[in-house]
Order: sequence, then structure tokens, then C-alpha cells
Amino acid sequence: MERIDKILASQGNLSRREVKEIIKKGRVHINGVVVTDSAVKIDAEKDAVLLDGVQITLKKHIYIMLNKPQGVVSASESETDKTVVDLVPDSLYRKGLFPAGRLDKDTTGFVLITDDGDFAHRILSPKNHIFKTYLARLSHSLSENDISLISSGITLADGTTLKEAKLEIVEAGDTPLVKIMICEGKYHQVKRMFAAAGNKVVSLHRSKMGGLALDTALKPGECREITPSELEKITE
Ligand code: URA
Repeated sequence: MERIDKILASQGNLSRREVKEIIKKGRVHINGVVVTDSAVKIDAEKDAVLLDGVQITLKKHIYIMLNKPQGVVSASESETDKTVVDLVPDSLYRKGLFPAGRLDKDTTGFVLITDDGDFAHRILSPKNHIFKTYLARLSHSLSENDISLISSGITLADGTTLKEAKLEIVEAGDTPLVKIMICEGKYHQVKRMFAAAGNKVVSLHRSKMGGLALDTALKPGECREITPSELEKITE
């Protein structure tokens, strides 16, 4: 059981003070009864909470899928750039949102935005082997040797080790499109893996996290909530 004002303030964009005002004005009903006392405790799992007559689905955490466009940074705040969190609409916004893993400013595709630190840690830790799938357009063709070099993992000149990757050629040719799956997320990892083979990533798009593909209906810059069954697909 937790205070109604604390629970409501954790759900959205409203401060605790604003929530208290709303409650005082009689705009909140719990199980059909109006409440004007912010200190009332409720069970977020069981009690029906209505704001202005509309039932609120109380959730401990939120998980959002964003199709990140180029030019946006994977951060919660930035003084200079638009961030992935800036793209979250008011209807999904709540305090404490952050991207679970970073894509470079020029990388596009699937960014998971959440306020659940434990979940983020779970899907990002290389120990859990949750593969992130990228589509990379390269500047040069890829030889069998390059593929086995990148697939088996690389130690860079500065001593950085990059774990093994799964590679698949989607479009062969002079500027191939390659699907690459990695389970760690070191700085510029995919770009550095191809650079180690003397190649260059011209464009990079994340298409999948674990078993969950980016919803192709989402245009660049659009996002939507991830359903509970989709969330399971990430870790399965
Ligand atoms: N690897 C990169 O080089 N860049 C990204 O944005 C993601 C993975």
C-alpha cells in the first residue's frame, strides 16, 4: 500500500504538488468514491483509480520502443541536442526515463526507453547474451576472411576486446548490407569491428533487441509502449 499522491506522481508528468491539488479538487475517485485526502493509501495492483472519470492503469514501470532518427542523442538530457527522451509524447512520459543502451547520434532504429534500471541492466549486460541486431551498410565488399575475423571477436590495438558477433550478408556487392548481432555495447562497437577489417560503416540501423523487432509501422521519431508479451521476447 502506498500514498495515492506518490503513486500518481510516479505515473506521469505531474509533480507531487500538482497531484495534491488535483486530489483536493475532487477529481480523483478510488473504487468509485471521491478522495480529497492525498495521504490515503491504496493498493496499486487492486484499487481502481479514476482521474476526471477516466480509469488510470497504474504501472510500476514503463517500456517504450522508439524508432530513433539520425541527429538525436541517446541521453535523457542535453544542452545542445535533441534527445531520445525528448521524443517521448506526454501520454507516455514519466519522470526518470532514460535510454537502455546508447546508439550513436547518426545511428537509427530501435531504442528502448524505460524508467526500470534493473531491466535495463539485465538486457545490456553481456553476461546475459541478449543479442542486439544491426543492419550495417558498408563502404567496401566483405571477404570470407573479414567475416571470420569479425565473427570470432577482435582485440583492438588499444587492447579493447570486442566479443564475437554473428554475421549475415543481406545484400552482397561492393557496398554490402550486413546483418550483425552483438551482445555487448561498447562505444562505436559495430563501427570499430568493421574498421578492424579495413571497412567502414556508412549507415547503421538497429532492427532488433533480443527477440523483439522494431515495429516497422513506427516512422523515424515515433514511439509506442511495448506490451508485456513483447517485453518477454527481448529476454527469451
Ligand atoms: N555500434 C556502433 O558503432 N554504433 C552504434 O550506434 C551502435 C553499435
